[in-house]
Order: sequence, then C-alpha cells, then structure tokens
Amino acid sequence: MARILTGIQSTGTPHLGNILGAIIPGIELSKKKENEAFFFIADLHSLTQIKDGEQLRQNTYATAATWLAFGFDTSTNVFYRQSDVAAEVCQLNWFLNCYAPFPMLANAHSFKDKSEKLSDVNAGLFVYPVLMAADIIGYDANFVPVGKDQQQHLEMTRDIASSFNHIHGDTFVIPEGLYDERVMIVPGTDGQKMSKSYNNFIDIFLSDKALRKQIMKIETDSTPIEEPKDWKTCNAFKLYELLANDAQIEEMKTNYATPGYGYGHSKQALFELICEKFKTERVRFNELMENTDELDRQLAIGAEKARAVIGKVLAKVKSKTGY
Ligand code: ADP
Ligand code: TRP
Repeated sequence: MARILTGIQSTGTPHLGNILGAIIPGIELSKKKENEAFFFIADLHSLTQIKDGEQLRQNTYATAATWLAFGFDTSTNVFYRQSDVAAEVCQLNWFLNCYAPFPMLANAHSFKDKSEKLSDVNAGLFVYPVLMAADIIGYDANFVPVGKDQQQHLEMTRDIASSFNHIHGDTFVIPEGLYDERVMIVPGTDGQKMSKSYNNFIDIFLSDKALRKQIMKIETDSTPIEEPKDWKTCNAFKLYELLANDAQIEEMKTNYATPGYGYGHSKQALFELICEKFKTERVRFNELMENTDELDRQLAIGAEKARAVIGKVLAKVKSKTGY
C-alpha cells in the first residue's frame, strides 16, 4: 500500500481551476486500491499570509466542504486539519529546523518571490518549507502529488529527511513528488490561468444568479452576432470544452459557425452545463457549510488517525536525538 499525502492551503473557496486541476484528480488517486490517502488542510501555513481568524476558519470550512462534496471518502482515507495536530507537527518542525541548512531556505524561489511582493515578510514564510517537510515525513508519506511550483519544497523535504537519516540512521521515509504533467490548466474569465490572485475565477458554489453573473463576465471578442465566431480563440468555449461531452462539443462548434448565435448564448450554455454537471456537489457543499459541526466532526476523526501516525514518528525522532 502506498501512502499518498498532500496539503491544501485554505486561502478561499476552491474555484473551478482548483476543482478540475487538483481536487478531482486527487480524489481519483485516493480511490485506487493500492493507495491510502492522507489529505489535509494546511491552515497553519495560511497564517503566514492571513491574519484574520474568522476568514481563516471560513476558508478552512469551505476547503473541507469542497473535498467532501466531491466525494472524498474519509472512511477509507485520512482527512484532517493541520492545526488539529499542531502539537505534534510543530514539535517535529522544530527538530527539522535544526537539520535544514540556512542557505537552502534562503534560496527558496517561493520565499524570494513572496518577500518581494508582500509587506509582511515574517519568519513563518522563511521556515514554510520546513513545516511542509514535517507535514510529509511525519506521516511516512511515499508520494506527494503537488503542482510543479512545489517541486523545490519537495526537494528540500527530501534533503532534510536524508540529512537526518545520514546522521541518526534510517528514520524517515524519503518521499517522492508526483507532478502530473497532464493536469490541465483551467483558464479564467480573462483567458489567463484561473487563479484567486488574478480575480478571474469561477466559484461554482455561488447562487445561480451570482454564478451566472460571473460566467457572463467571461471576456470575448467583438465579432457581431450576425457573423460566425471562432471557437478556437474563445474563452467561454475553452471552459465549455473542459466540461462537455463529445457530442455537446461538436454541437457547440456548429453553433459558433452559425450566424445569429452569440457569445451570450454560449455563456448561457456554459452556465447551464456547470449547474447540471455539479448539481449534487453544489447542494452538498451548501449543506455542509450550513452544518460546520459535521465538518468539525469529520475533521476530528481524521486528526485522531493522523495524530497516531505522527506521534510514532515524533517518538522515534526524540529517541534518536537523545531526548
Ligand atoms: P490559486 O492560483 O487560485 O491561488 P493554488 O495555487 O492555491 O490556486 O492551487 C491549489 C491547487 O489547485 C494546486 O494543486 C494547483 O495546481 C491547482 N490549480 C490552481 N489553479 C489552477 C488552474 N487554473 N488550473 C488547474 N489547476 C489549478
Ligand atoms: N505548500 C503547499 C501549497 O502551497 C501546501 C502544503 C503544505 C503541502 N504542506 C504540504 C503540500 C505537504 C503537500 C505536502 O500548495
């Protein structure tokens, strides 16, 4: 059995890009018989940037509700909130800090990037990769599915774990990153990569009215309605194509070639497709957001399972280092 583990930052309600690019593929991976998944909400990492407690809590719930609404099975896998195992993971973080070379951390692209952009350049941002290493090696993870942007962090995790093993003998499992090159990049309403930071996202959990408004904002060119349109360059079509079946795609191509069919029509079709395709998930998400006790209950079960695993690793670390 391979243990796959990944952390999801709680920076907002997951958008269509997160859902198609990370959540659905993650759930698929967790369903394979040979895998056991540890998926957690990296809410301690979020504190490096978000200082509003209420916002942080809401983001955590929205992230948890999305994974559950899309069918992540918490009975066969482990789903938890990082802060629920703070006592263990932060202790392990300290031990690992003492095996993480300063120049390695100072070289992290993401730290350099953030320290140029953010006004709050705190020490948490600097040791971010070490907490991430504790998240991973604290659970004997074999594989870590992440985006390419996290590759350097994964390499650091491997370096820290190897350096500890070298000094103290075999202790940690050395994890491998899983970078799926095939994962699609979902475009946003302006045609760039959909991202919270570009404010070009589609939040499928909004009410019908608000969702439709977001979809109508998709940028299109000014071809007049009486002329045929080019589906190849249309942002609304690109999103439609990611969700529709082959017959629907062919029909939409014909629509684009037909004078009188406008972008308003294709956006309406996209709106209807999203509503139909994610009907149950949208209902389930809203039910869960109305019932955060249920989210807390599920996360607490996950935390207990996670604590049992990291507790053992931590005990090993203490014994090896002489405490
Ligand atoms: P954001 O850019 O909105 O802040 P994150 O960086 O928090 O998103 O990404 C969370 C996960 O969702 C990552 O695994 C990332 O690869 C995936 N993801 C984010 N945006 C997209 C997108 N537009 N298309 C596909 N996957 C995406
Ligand atoms: N740094 C990751 C991100 O921004 C989130 C994360 C925290 C993570 N701890 C992790 C991912 C452990 C994988 C494994 O996406």
